[in-house]
Amino acid sequence: MNSGTLAAINAFLANPIDQHRKKIMKSLDSHTKKIQKQFNRQANQYAQTKQAKDVQAMAGLVRLTKTDRHSQTLDVACGPGRLTMAFAGHAKQATGLDVTENLLDIGRAEAQKLGIDNIEFTYGSALDIPFENETFDTVSCRAAFHHFSEPGQVLQEMARVLKPEGEILIADILGNEDTATATRHDALEQLCDPTHVRCISKTYFQRLFNATGLEIKSCRFGTMDYEVEQWLIHGGPSEAQKEKIRSTFRQSIATNQTGLNVREENGIIKFSHQTALFVLGHRTDNEND
Ligand SMILES: C[S@@+](CC[C@H](N)C(=O)[O-])C[C@H]1O[C@@H](n2cnc3c(N)ncnc32)[C@H](O)[C@@H]1O
Repeated sequence: MNSGTLAAINAFLANPIDQHRKKIMKSLDSHTKKIQKQFNRQANQYAQTKQAKDVQAMAGLVRLTKTDRHSQTLDVACGPGRLTMAFAGHAKQATGLDVTENLLDIGRAEAQKLGIDNIEFTYGSALDIPFENETFDTVSCRAAFHHFSEPGQVLQEMARVLKPEGEILIADILGNEDTATATRHDALEQLCDPTHVRCISKTYFQRLFNATGLEIKSCRFGTMDYEVEQWLIHGGPSEAQKEKIRSTFRQSIATNQTGLNVREENGIIKFSHQTALFVLGHRTDNEND
């Protein structure tokens, strides 16, 4: 055994969790590293947004699933973990998985403050979920698919760790079916948060579900309203970028070129995201046999 190997073994024995974390960090692709950097920087700001703190919405999401006192749940890309905590209130054990350490720390501190003891926050990537096949009854992912460079791979991983009778819950912003409109919307999101990849359209979600052997058990579509100035906080853009973003929003009032129903109400610029909720299960028919 050479001295390098021995040093690595000693380091692992001294602090196995830290070494495990370093190993995962090394394996991350460049986009996921970018996510980690952006969300570590914006962790406190993101955790305080209306979207991240909406506990009523989280409770509503949990109620859409069959989660009960026997369930093991996994919340993928859990961020500050409010949905993970909502699952903990109904499940035997709730786990949150994320690649952003600062958000996981916020989740851990909040769970401890609330006395939630059936919860675990785990560091790792959605592209390579660090759990065995068929471990969970419910696997959720909220407000994160638009950040994934490989959404199909994440979905495959979510399906892999799901038990045969389990349910997947996905909630996210919906992309416009018109490609030019969707591209303009994505460009605006990227100006605010460079880790935004693309909002997935209903048609493309359906294609991903089919390719992964999943079927829709129920779905809901809606809108989520924002004030532009409040929304800007999550991404932390520079002043110059903010000006460009504001100007694109203003142009969109007359043209609806971003498909975001941008409007001015009492001097405040507002817009709406289209949203989607899907509850999915492993496909039970023999369609692709
Ligand atoms: C907009 S936040 C949503 C957080 C949370 N689900 C919520 O509803 O508030 C997006 C989250 O996705 C996480 N994320 C993005 N890509 C990831 C990946 N490949 N693996 C794990 N987490 C990822 C980010 O770290 C961040 O916490």
